[in-house]
Amino acid sequence: MPKNRPNPSALRYLWQERRTSTIGIDQSGVWRFRDLLPIVPHDRVVTLREGNTPLYEMPKSAAALGLNWLLAKHQGMNPTGSFKDTGMTAALSVAVASGFEWVACASTGNTSAAMAAYAARAGLRSMVLIPEGKIAWGKLSQAMDYGSTTIQLRTDFDGCVRVLSEIVQRAPVYLLNSVNPYRLEGQKTPAFEILEQCEWQVPHHVIVPGGNLANCSALGKGFAEMMHLGFIHRVPKISVIQAEGANPLYQSMQANGGASLEPVTANTRASAIQIGNPASWKKAVKILVSTGGWCEQVSEREIALAKAEIGAEGIGCEPASAVTLAGLKKLVADGRVGKEETAVLLLTGHTLKDSEYTIKYHLGELLTEAEMGSAEDRAQLNGLRHAPIVLDADADAVLRAIDSQARSAMPA
Ligand code: F0G
Repeated sequence: MPKNRPNPSALRYLWQERRTSTIGIDQSGVWRFRDLLPIVPHDRVVTLREGNTPLYEMPKSAAALGLNWLLAKHQGMNPTGSFKDTGMTAALSVAVASGFEWVACASTGNTSAAMAAYAARAGLRSMVLIPEGKIAWGKLSQAMDYGSTTIQLRTDFDGCVRVLSEIVQRAPVYLLNSVNPYRLEGQKTPAFEILEQCEWQVPHHVIVPGGNLANCSALGKGFAEMMHLGFIHRVPKISVIQAEGANPLYQSMQANGGASLEPVTANTRASAIQIGNPASWKKAVKILVSTGGWCEQVSEREIALAKAEIGAEGIGCEPASAVTLAGLKKLVADGRVGKEETAVLLLTGHTLKDSEYTIKYHLGELLTEAEMGSAEDRAQLNGLRHAPIVLDADADAVLRAIDSQARSAMPA
């Protein structure tokens, strides 16, 4: 935070103005806010022009929920397809300035993709530790493509973190997991963008997926700084949504209001948030309490349905991001989110990160019989499935197929 209290209107103008500049750090949606980033110097910043992501309206989901207004901040539209880029540009730049040769992280896939890309840009060596068989192919392919030393450990994410903490004690490697404070500095900037994109009207709710639980606190920090500097007069309620099979924060909030957290063995198809022992849970509790938000959990069926609904808006996201819409449904159902209020969903990853999940869903191969739920639940899930139709190379056959699709879409 700068020593002299900045002038909000001058900064709002400057941040907008930088977007039209041809200089790399001005074009970055992180570094154009550099006046509020405690990271100098700026001459060796490693940027892929991250940030500046779209804030989309979600008219179909809003109508289904009876909300006037629903927005999605799509952080999957970052250069490596996830929100991790905003933190990585900041922390990797610090690694360069500090003279490190090696950077490393443990990851469920997105951090490793981002770190590998930014390390490649900077000419640093990078090492990722990922749980074998537990990350989406899209993410694994990125780490390899950007030239990282990719090590798959026979364990889960929590096991990778354990091994990495030992490695950083024994070797001069710069740790780029989300406990790195500079990552949070970068990851606070989407809060500034959301406010900018809402013309400085503060949304009532921001809904975030919860895994290692750093992102919710980074955003909370961003909104809190905006309030302390006089840009806004209140902050949104920040709510965190976890998958039922990876819900240590949810359990902790239910059991003792976040006083202590019992790690769990995590199991969810939303592999990005398959984390049982989240590093930043205390910070997450602080954000929930200080903003008045909630922690909710959602089932595999609810995640799959919400993901298909976000896809049907023409937007799409990876499974971990879809927990936000699934969780919002619960918050609306019992009135915690009012129909007149504005909510912003944080979509953290691009739909192509985990296309295997999407394909399985549309082929009807994703969920088990038990997970599909009641006949009504099943009908809802099936209603959004669009499996490919295989035909001979014959125009008549194709025309018959679209005719029958049109008929099945007509109201009875
Ligand atoms: N959404 C996606 C797509 C993620 O990749 C992650 C975390 C989260 C949500 C949760 O954010 O950990 O700050 O609560 N992915 C990390 C990784 C753990 O290694 O890529 P969080």
